[in-house]
Amino acid sequence: MAVLGLDVGTGGSRAVLVDEDGSVTATATEAHAAFDSPRTGWAEQHPGDWWRASRAAIRAVLAAGAMSPGDIRAVGLSGQMHGAVLLDAAGEVVRPALIWCDQRTDAQCRRLTDQVGAARLIELVANPALTGFTLPKLLWVRDEEPARWERVRTVLLPKDYVRWRLTGERATDAADASGTLLFDVAGRRWSSTLLSHVGIDAAALPAVHEGPEVTGRLAPAGAEATGLLAGTPVVAGGGDQAAGAVGMGIVRPGAVSATIGTSGVVFAATDRPARDPRGRVHTFCHAVPGRWHVMGVTQGAGLSLRWLRDTIGAGAGAGGPGAAEDAYDRLCAEAAEAPPGADGVLWAPYLMGERTPHLDPEARAALVGLSAAHGRAHVIRAVLEGVAFSLRDSLTIFDEMGVPATRIRLGGGGARSLLWRRIQADVYGQPVDVLAAEEGAAYGAALLAGVGAGIWGSVDEACAAAVRVAGTVAPEPGAMETLDRQYRRFRTLYGALHPQAAA
Ligand code: XUL
Repeated sequence: MAVLGLDVGTGGSRAVLVDEDGSVTATATEAHAAFDSPRTGWAEQHPGDWWRASRAAIRAVLAAGAMSPGDIRAVGLSGQMHGAVLLDAAGEVVRPALIWCDQRTDAQCRRLTDQVGAARLIELVANPALTGFTLPKLLWVRDEEPARWERVRTVLLPKDYVRWRLTGERATDAADASGTLLFDVAGRRWSSTLLSHVGIDAAALPAVHEGPEVTGRLAPAGAEATGLLAGTPVVAGGGDQAAGAVGMGIVRPGAVSATIGTSGVVFAATDRPARDPRGRVHTFCHAVPGRWHVMGVTQGAGLSLRWLRDTIGAGAGAGGPGAAEDAYDRLCAEAAEAPPGADGVLWAPYLMGERTPHLDPEARAALVGLSAAHGRAHVIRAVLEGVAFSLRDSLTIFDEMGVPATRIRLGGGGARSLLWRRIQADVYGQPVDVLAAEEGAAYGAALLAGVGAGIWGSVDEACAAAVRVAGTVAPEPGAMETLDRQYRRFRTLYGALHPQAAA
């Protein structure tokens, strides 16, 4: 017996099988075609390609786990958030999907903010108009491609297109719906006020369910395409951030994750829809029924270290076998030679603009405070610390909002380096936990499927049974004090570098 989690990501679709102990027994990933960028800042993918990859990943994971389809008790879905999948009356895709990182909708965001009002938007949908969110994308298609917009009868999020192919149902979950800017995040339903304001028909939107709820069952066509049994239940699941948090056990108020991938995400589970009046963090429903979360994003987190590797290089011994992997280890080993605080060198990690806290796509990175006495070790350490300072900015906002952060779990590349773990503990001023295994959003989706199938009584129970902490790093008082001083200097950087943006 097992449950199957599927994450329809950007680079590929990943399927995992999870047994009744919460252990992963098989995984399979099928790559997607790279996204098209017909113009600078545009990002489009073909929903049909997600379906092709999802089918292949499901078939492959069933084979890898030597599972007979009858052993799969339920399927859970997760996926990249914010994308706009547009279908016509016959269910045909009207145009390629505009995905989460598409930035073409600046004009639509400004107009929406002017028309509705910044404060009213946060009141209605808990978030400001951001270019990546779904509604501005719909408005762009309506403005720029009216003939295509005329044909649109259904709007789905990426993973829900796959759900529709599997089950024939138009459904989504409250967490993913939260990233559309059309969702009353506090009331956990579509915002009829905003829908009528922007003139979009609620009939075009899918039914909304809580994460572990069954939204439908495998239809014969979906079963034939995937090798699953017709009738297998499919639960709502969650957008990738919420499902990933379930997979890390970030489900109760007080629990926080700090995940450093290319970007860095600080995610806190809450028991209320905590809003930031300035919209600097996202406020979304959680994939856990009756819970919410807030989330801050640093655009250039792991990206900062990658950039350093690619520009100043990984030092002596670089370029040999296994170079790509070892490069990060070597950089971190070098950074450890510099003291906490990097003797005053600071890194502002705004290589790709910034979301939290500055919401400024034009922000730029900077290395500050260099003297002739500083060397490579200081620069590398400053980069690791600067990324952690930027994640701490999200924690500072959570604190202003009264969102507790009593226990922080680390994820992504930032959890793999011992030095970066220490730096994070010292910068956050709290012990940080590292998990035994990190299986990502597909794993969280599988746990939600397990709750839907009745293997666990609740998401809390599933996490308690399945998610294991492997170790904890405590902050070191001396380093904590030094890094606290450095953080206060870091806080002044953005304003000093961007006087007009800070005004
Ligand atoms: C969430 C976000 C990403 C995408 C792509 O706000 O932008 O997590 O879902 O993975």
